[in-house]
Amino acid sequence: MSLFGLFRKSLVPAAQNLSRCYSQQIQKVTLIPGDGIGPEISSSVQQIFSAAEVPVEWESVDVTPVRGRDGQTRIPDAAVESMNLNKIGLKGPLATPIGKGHMSLNLALRKEFDLYANVRPCKSLEGYKTVYDDVDLVTIRENTEGEYSGIEHEIVDGVVQSIKLITRDASMRVAEFAFDFARANNRPTVTAVHKANIMRMSDGLFLRCCREVAEQHKDIKFREMYLDTVCLNMVQDPTQFDVLVMPNLYGDILSDLCAGLVGGLGVTPSGNIGAGGVAIFESVHGTAPDIAGEDKANPTALLLSAVMMLRHMELHDHANRIENAVLTVIGERKHLTGDLGGESKCSEFTAAICEKVQS
Ligand code: NAI
Repeated sequence: MSLFGLFRKSLVPAAQNLSRCYSQQIQKVTLIPGDGIGPEISSSVQQIFSAAEVPVEWESVDVTPVRGRDGQTRIPDAAVESMNLNKIGLKGPLATPIGKGHMSLNLALRKEFDLYANVRPCKSLEGYKTVYDDVDLVTIRENTEGEYSGIEHEIVDGVVQSIKLITRDASMRVAEFAFDFARANNRPTVTAVHKANIMRMSDGLFLRCCREVAEQHKDIKFREMYLDTVCLNMVQDPTQFDVLVMPNLYGDILSDLCAGLVGGLGVTPSGNIGAGGVAIFESVHGTAPDIAGEDKANPTALLLSAVMMLRHMELHDHANRIENAVLTVIGERKHLTGDLGGESKCSEFTAAICEKVQS
């Protein structure tokens, strides 16, 4: 499995090694276009891949839940089969149904494919000014347990209990992933984020696992920090952070905070690594119902997630070429969508990137 080798650290000239790309075999990728703006931004990615002649064939699947014989809703078999076969997926945002009896589809996908590590790189975009420059960090979130284990009950009227589940197995595999990822991407430091001073047993176990894995990866510097200290230091000077690994809830919150440092969810990619070799890459923003169907969506987050996917598939030349194109178009500031302060439509932004990848 590739660990997205050298994510956004090696922006090589576009034309380099292209002859090798064209001879590459076509690989199938499962596409979940999603709801709301999902189909628009998915179409944008498909157009850009096509312009860049990426050797990928899309297999589009519908994940609208179906009701099984047991009365429970679940992901349709065809979508599960496609993912199991192709192993690689790209996913747009999915609306979470409101009301009883519906499981969040994102949660269902996470459970179905045991997507145990959520990887979110946050890097400042040249040409898109935020409060901070030179942010370049990666959050790795344990994605299967912790406070999100879904074990909640009412003990007596007015008293509820929610179980935070931490296991050695899940902590070890995410810690191992974090160190392997750091090495594969030439990143010198892994920081374990925790509250083991308060949650001595649960976070204590997570931290011990990180320490144990750190012992086997002496070439990577290991730090451990309290979550509250990380939050304080992160907004003071995010450049001091590199790879951060943490339990589920902390990762959920901290990864969004980090996205805010570089321009928000519209420009932040994400990848989910599963136990059976499955990996699903996705934009982390929602379905944006307020602008759906209006050609106003920014496809950058899904496109950069697709770039992560290409690196995972070891299609580095294509990844670099598309990434260079999107960063150049954003840097030129002539074709920006509304959320980035521009007036361009999604289709115009897409066309500008297509032109760059072909030039
Ligand atoms: P949202 O992210 O859809 O929208 C928040 C604001 O950001 C809106 O003003 C929207 O127009 C804007 N926005 C988001 N993505 C954008 C993009 N690519 N380009 C331009 N503007 C963008 O969050 P909200 O409204 O809380 O959620 C809407 C739906 O999305 C809900 O059903 C929610 O459950 C679902 N959702 C799905 C996620 C996923 O599938 N990963 C993640 C978050 C929410």
